[in-house]
Amino acid sequence: METSFVVVVLLFTGLVFTGGVNSDLVEDKKALLELATNLRHTRSLNWRENSRVCNHWTGVVCDEEELRVVELHLPGIGFHGELPANTIARLSALQILSLRSNAISGKFPSDFVNLKNLSFLYLQFNKFSGALPSDFSVWKNLTNVNLSNNEFNGSIPGSIANATRLTALNLANNMLTGEIPDFGIPTLQQLNLTNNNLTGVVPFSLRRFPNSAFSGNNVSYVNYAPSIPPVNAPTVSQPVHKSRHSRKLGLSVLLAIIVGACVAGFVVCAVIMIMCCKKGEREIVLSRKVQKGEGSPEKGIAGGHDANNRLTFFEGCNYAFDLEDLLRASAEVLGKGTFGVAYKAVLEDATAVVVKRLKEVGVGKREFEQQMEVVGGIHHENVVELRAYYYSKDEKLMVYDYYSQGSVSALLHGKKEEEKIPLDWDTRLRIAIGAARGIAHIHTENGGKLVHGNIKASNIFLNSQNYGCVSDLGLSTLMSPVAPAISRATGYRAPEVVDTRKAGQPSDVYGFGVVMLELLTGKSPVHTISGSEVVHLVRWVQSVVREEWTAEVFDVELMRYPNIEEEMVEMLQIAMACVVRMPEQRPKMADVVKMVEDVRRLDTGNRPSSEAKSSGARSESSTPPLPTTAAVESSSSPH
Ligand SMILES: *[C@@H]1O[C@H](CO)[C@@H](O)[C@H](O)[C@H]1NC(C)=O
Ligand SMILES: *[C@@H]1O[C@H](CO)[C@@H](O)[C@H](O)[C@H]1NC(C)=O
Ligand SMILES: *[C@@H]1O[C@H](CO)[C@@H](O)[C@H](O)[C@H]1NC(C)=O
Ligand SMILES: *[C@@H]1O[C@H](CO)[C@@H](O)[C@H](O)[C@H]1NC(C)=O
Ligand SMILES: *[C@@H]1O[C@H](CO)[C@@H](O)[C@H](O)[C@H]1NC(C)=O
Ligand SMILES: *[C@@H]1O[C@H](CO)[C@@H](O)[C@H](O)[C@H]1NC(C)=O
Ligand SMILES: *[C@@H]1O[C@H](CO)[C@@H](O)[C@H](O)[C@H]1NC(C)=O
Ligand SMILES: *[C@@H]1O[C@H](CO)[C@@H](O)[C@H](O)[C@H]1NC(C)=O
Repeated sequence: METSFVVVVLLFTGLVFTGGVNSDLVEDKKALLELATNLRHTRSLNWRENSRVCNHWTGVVCDEEELRVVELHLPGIGFHGELPANTIARLSALQILSLRSNAISGKFPSDFVNLKNLSFLYLQFNKFSGALPSDFSVWKNLTNVNLSNNEFNGSIPGSIANATRLTALNLANNMLTGEIPDFGIPTLQQLNLTNNNLTGVVPFSLRRFPNSAFSGNNVSYVNYAPSIPPVNAPTVSQPVHKSRHSRKLGLSVLLAIIVGACVAGFVVCAVIMIMCCKKGEREIVLSRKVQKGEGSPEKGIAGGHDANNRLTFFEGCNYAFDLEDLLRASAEVLGKGTFGVAYKAVLEDATAVVVKRLKEVGVGKREFEQQMEVVGGIHHENVVELRAYYYSKDEKLMVYDYYSQGSVSALLHGKKEEEKIPLDWDTRLRIAIGAARGIAHIHTENGGKLVHGNIKASNIFLNSQNYGCVSDLGLSTLMSPVAPAISRATGYRAPEVVDTRKAGQPSDVYGFGVVMLELLTGKSPVHTISGSEVVHLVRWVQSVVREEWTAEVFDVELMRYPNIEEEMVEMLQIAMACVVRMPEQRPKMADVVKMVEDVRRLDTGNRPSSEAKSSGARSESSTPPLPTTAAVESSSSPH
């Protein structure tokens, strides 16, 4: 009898200890009770030592297993006085803390650094004073911070840039002073710094927020206004202070741009929809495409090929296919370019190549082959290699490597898929550096006389390191001069090419300048605004820069990255030197390479890595760092 009673008691107590209270929760409970005892409050709390914490205590939320307190909501409890140290800080699993609308005074509790999992912090409407926490990087998960309506003074710590997951930050109605640090956090969606005593310049990366986010301070919007490059040699720009009056003007310009961008987006959507409707007929065998192409006889090469009609491969090409394989391959139209249609052909062994079918070739077989030998002999990491070609009376084909990421034009202006990441600044720099090197290399070939002749964003691809890589070279000399209006290349044609139809190396420089402007503005070289008004990118940029509205030129996508404005302004200057009207005043491509490489070199010292920060949101973190060659005296006057 007695023994069975003991057994029952043991079982019972065992149950209590295993199924019941967890030691961490016991600790959390203790911490909360200490808080309630040591912080005066006008409303009563139902926190009793002998009651269950989870689901019972006012404002306390536990995790699902009821092992830890993860949320504490205590708004308007009438807390006053200083927060007792080492109370809330012991709730180390806390994710949400709201003490808003009380009258808590004293400094920001330094022991909150122990709340490593904190993601929501609401302390607004209290009487906290003194400095903001100096190191925000201790809260890796911080997403929402509201410290508004307190008496915090001192400056906003630069370390806030390290709270890389922040989506909302409200510091309104405090007494903060000093300059606003450049904490361009890509994820940040809401910002309110109103009614402080902040001074200086609104950093570039925060200008995507409305002016009202900064009102009630003494801040200005300095604009970097490089003068239109006099002839070529770009110099480092000096910031120029702008008046309030012109700032308003800038807003209306910005509005016009946004409206324009919306219209352009609509047009792009419409085009995409039309293309999708046609998609059904896109995948056909290449030979049929080639056979029934406009302007060529029905009897295509597939029907009438003979022993001489072979693909000519270049040395070092390890592709194993012949013309018949190519013609049997399934093909997809990649685009209709200036000189013909490009197809993506997937061979039986899954190799993908680009086949370009030229139209309007104006030279004979011998001349064609000579030019192909020149082009096929170019091996450079920033030039898309020509692998093979085919010449017959009726058909001229060129075979290139296929680049899966698509052209820079498609990346910049193409359909925005859900998972598609906007091109960040570092990638755009790499594209410009790579393309510049590729073009400069082309200009050294053929005794320094080779001309690309068709530089545009749709002819630039990303190589495996995401550097620009130039395609489609040397075709312009093959084409009959009476080729139909090269409408697709309009925005890229240098004035002298429009006049004389003769492309030279300076016109390649011009085309590259337009590509740089596209990278900087995110806009197409020719686009329409308000439905019908045609805007030429070069003229538009020139007019905006002339009005000293440089900052309005840049792609809003780029606004999210901090500390890049100077680099962008420098790039803009280089681009504008490339597109000056007189061909002999444009820099040589070799000089352009140096200038573009110098953009990053100048700035390696004082630049908190936007790469590191943006790579959280981006998938490709494997790209190697940009090259930083030793400093060079290369602001040489290009000529
Ligand atoms: C933080 O939260 C994660 C899960 O969200 C948990 O695994 C971890 O233990 C928590 N850290 C602390 C200190 O409680
Ligand atoms: C942050 O949140 C993630 C899940 O969202 C969690 O795994 C992690 O433990 C949290 N805490 C810290 C300090 O990163
Ligand atoms: C902030 O306010 C405190 C008093 O609350 C004062 O001692 C301190 O000097 C102030 N700091 C700054 C930078 O104004
Ligand atoms: C961000 O954190 C890193 C490492 O913790 C530190 O070196 C850097 O100074 C911090 N940045 C700022 C702006 O505080
Ligand atoms: C911060 O608090 C203010 C005042 O309560 C509120 O209007 C605002 O929405 C809050 N902001 C954020 C980011 O939570
Ligand atoms: C803001 O600064 C001005 C000038 O320094 C000063 O007169 C004013 O009292 C300050 N306001 C607050 C709220 O700190
Ligand atoms: C910022 O906060 C103030 C006061 O809380 C509010 O009046 C204002 O509308 C807010 N502005 C923005 C842009 O959120
Ligand atoms: C605003 O700042 C400028 C320069 O930073 C200063 O000259 C001016 O007096 C300030 N205005 C106020 C109201 O504090």
